[in-house]
Amino acid sequence: MGSVAGFSPSVWPLYPDPGKVIAVIVFVVLIYFRHSISVVLSITTLPITWRLTSSDFFISQERDGFDITFGNYSDHQQSSEPDYPDLIPPILHQISLGHREPREKWMEARNACLSYHPNWETHLWTDDDGAKLVKEKFPHLKDMWYRYKYPIQRIDALRYMVLQEYGGVVLDMDLECRRSLGPLRRFGFVAPAAHPVGFSNGFIMASKGHPFIGELLRNLPIFNWNWLGLPYATVMFSTGCHYASVIHALQSNRTDLRILGGTPDSPNLHRLNGHVITPLFQHLGASSWHSFDAHFIVSMGKYAVPLAMFGISSGCVLVFIWAGLLQYRHARARRASVSAKSFVRLE
Ligand SMILES: *[C@@H]1O[C@H](CO)[C@@H](O)[C@H](O)[C@H]1NC(C)=O
Repeated sequence: MGSVAGFSPSVWPLYPDPGKVIAVIVFVVLIYFRHSISVVLSITTLPITWRLTSSDFFISQERDGFDITFGNYSDHQQSSEPDYPDLIPPILHQISLGHREPREKWMEARNACLSYHPNWETHLWTDDDGAKLVKEKFPHLKDMWYRYKYPIQRIDALRYMVLQEYGGVVLDMDLECRRSLGPLRRFGFVAPAAHPVGFSNGFIMASKGHPFIGELLRNLPIFNWNWLGLPYATVMFSTGCHYASVIHALQSNRTDLRILGGTPDSPNLHRLNGHVITPLFQHLGASSWHSFDAHFIVSMGKYAVPLAMFGISSGCVLVFIWAGLLQYRHARARRASVSAKSFVRLE
């Protein structure tokens, strides 16, 4: 044994300690990819992180004295005053990009919304004034905005820009109003809960320059990934509902980022998915951009955490196998070297 120890230094330069090599490699990889790792982790862990502190931000009778069935409010209530100051300005924004005339049934839906908000400022954002807003107010996002592969990404980003710049309500073109949104104007930010987690960005209310909207804009470039060319994943994780919900979950104090959920009897009361009628809207369902990978991603969403755990653990197993192989080669080389030198000595 003593002779082995005596010979080993000559072996080190060829085969450095595998443990140290692996530690250094893992460290360098983690440092180098730390931003990517945090993006992937924040996206895959949403099913857990969304629910943390959720009792603080769901609008409720107990916390806010707010009736989320809206039965207590008149259809035409335009304001939350005099009980509460209005934080959200009376502006209705809709976005119709793509140089096409909005569909006729959407214009009917829009007219219903206008009639329930008679004295509100209204704005229908089209390609020209959308591009103008991006160029003048968000020049640092302009190149990314033009380069987005899917038009819905441009629409999503524009929602956040419009809310940042003006505040008010952003509504999808396929939402037909059934009453005024006035009672909700007392909150600084409101969006409807989605299923199973997060919120939908088809209807957002926010005060002008709300810090959370600022965070949505600040993170756009960080999350601007092309997910293996999968349209649904790319849209959802870069600009869409999943993206916005992840940024919500990343905020340290979510108390003021209010979500319109359901009641124990009707947990999906305000969910805008498919052709549904909620207390606020009739959803005509224009989600035609939902693509072949949508079903896959939605079902993956349910299994995101197990999948992430599986990915991490299989990565660990591979590293262990690799370390074992390295160790084996190291030991064999050492043995070969020792026996060769002993042989020479014996002679
Ligand atoms: C979170 O924000 C709310 C409202 O701004 C505030 O009342 C509350 O104290 C904050 N919570 C923490 C833990 O800072």
